[in-house]
Amino acid sequence: MSQRTKIKALLQLEETGFEVTVKGWVRTFRNNQFIALNDGSTNNNLQIVVALDSLDEDTLKRITTGAAISVTGEVVPSLGKGQKVEVKAKTLQILGDCDPTTYPIQPKKHSLEFLRDNAHLRFRTNTFGAVFRVRNTLAFAVHKFFNERGFVYLHTPVITASDAEGAGEMFRVTTLDAVKPPLNDEGHVDFKQDFFGKATNLTVSGQLEGELGAMALSDIYTFGPTFRAENSNTTRHLAEFWMIEPEMAFCDLTENMDTAEALLKYVIAYALEHNAEDIEFLTQRLLEEEKQKPQQDRSELNLLEKLQFCLGNDFVRLTYTEAIDILKDSSHNKKKKFQYLIEGWGTDLQSEHERYLVEKHFKKPVILTDYPKEIKAFYMRQNEDGKTVRAMDILFPGIGEIVGGSQREERLDKLEQRMNEMGIPTEELWWYLDTRRFGACEHAGFGLGFERLVLFVTGMGNIRDVIPFPRAPKTAEF
Ligand code: 4AD
Ligand code: MG
Repeated sequence: MSQRTKIKALLQLEETGFEVTVKGWVRTFRNNQFIALNDGSTNNNLQIVVALDSLDEDTLKRITTGAAISVTGEVVPSLGKGQKVEVKAKTLQILGDCDPTTYPIQPKKHSLEFLRDNAHLRFRTNTFGAVFRVRNTLAFAVHKFFNERGFVYLHTPVITASDAEGAGEMFRVTTLDAVKPPLNDEGHVDFKQDFFGKATNLTVSGQLEGELGAMALSDIYTFGPTFRAENSNTTRHLAEFWMIEPEMAFCDLTENMDTAEALLKYVIAYALEHNAEDIEFLTQRLLEEEKQKPQQDRSELNLLEKLQFCLGNDFVRLTYTEAIDILKDSSHNKKKKFQYLIEGWGTDLQSEHERYLVEKHFKKPVILTDYPKEIKAFYMRQNEDGKTVRAMDILFPGIGEIVGGSQREERLDKLEQRMNEMGIPTEELWWYLDTRRFGACEHAGFGLGFERLVLFVTGMGNIRDVIPFPRAPKTAEF
């Protein structure tokens, strides 16, 4: 075998008596003899045994933590604990030196904050290796789920001229001079002179374009980066995150919820099956971390149990109105334990309320439907009561909202009326309204925040630790 073999494949083989070439980065080098080599294909290191006098002094000194090396040698049964096979080095080549006095990633436990500051190197730790392999598997599983169901993957634009959520949280895209932009007769910035001839921004959602696709292709989904200029410095918000947005024609709110629940269960099951080792590692990591917390703050279920529990149970479905009643009457509310007390119908739920419903009251994932129209976007289908819309949010333990979706308002007059009430410019969205003019039909869709999904499946506590290079307020390094 002259080609390089990946460590994961080699360890799975468990065969001995043949020659391999492996390449990777040194994790540790003990007794001038035992190298723990990692190539990122698995968290398990391959043990390389260096015959004591086979290497010159200079090469031995250059086998340091972080160095890139290539080793050719025989695969032999291992006498040591922890591995079945190891490689007896015949030749060893240093590919890239790593100065141990300046290399930040030492063979010891680093805090997640420290690793965030060294995000360019954090892939080389066990925790981040596991997180990003799980993230990859989840992304693949999302595509597999939709592909098996005949959905078309539709690429919606990153640069748009509209605000799909109507919330005004957009990053402007412009080629105009930032210091001295051209002004029009009224003294405002003259976007007619801008690259696109109008004001544009990074997309907050591909939904509106997704709906156009669904009105011909029936079932579509998007999966791409999404941008929100909300100044939320939380463990659940990013300024740049990835969102999965399916949109389905001839589909009502119930079928929409069914699809979302099936998707979540499918991708979690897929990760459990294909990343068993990584999830086991992350489960142990979380157990260790929780040991630092007081007993009452520790989770009842460990990560693996939590994922299995999610697969084995139907999500609880109830209306916003029913949820408000539960929250209002809860002892938590009466004892004033919520930071924001529930006074009555109509207010938006805070994440403390969402987590109370999921973690304390139902102890299961929850789908809330039929929210007050005032707290939801303009495109949601209005209910007959005149007060609520056919919205649905899926709430997960430890996360809060993981999915937001709705049945869409397909009736032109109702949609225009709502847009006018909410100050959404109907002229600019003429193309969106055209779908209501030409062959409109019942349709629905939702958005799944990909990083919130990765948070849930990896058991990490901060969303900045499940995206390779987080973008958040005052955070755009790397
Ligand atoms: O609830 P949202 O804002 O819904 C939409 O954007 C709709 N257009 C979706 C649709 O119906 N097609 O966002 C959907 C999901 C949230 O439930 C959350 O998981 C995630 O996107 N999300 C964020 N994730 C990370 N950081 C942020 N700032 C996020 N904002 C929303
Ligand atoms: Mg939402």
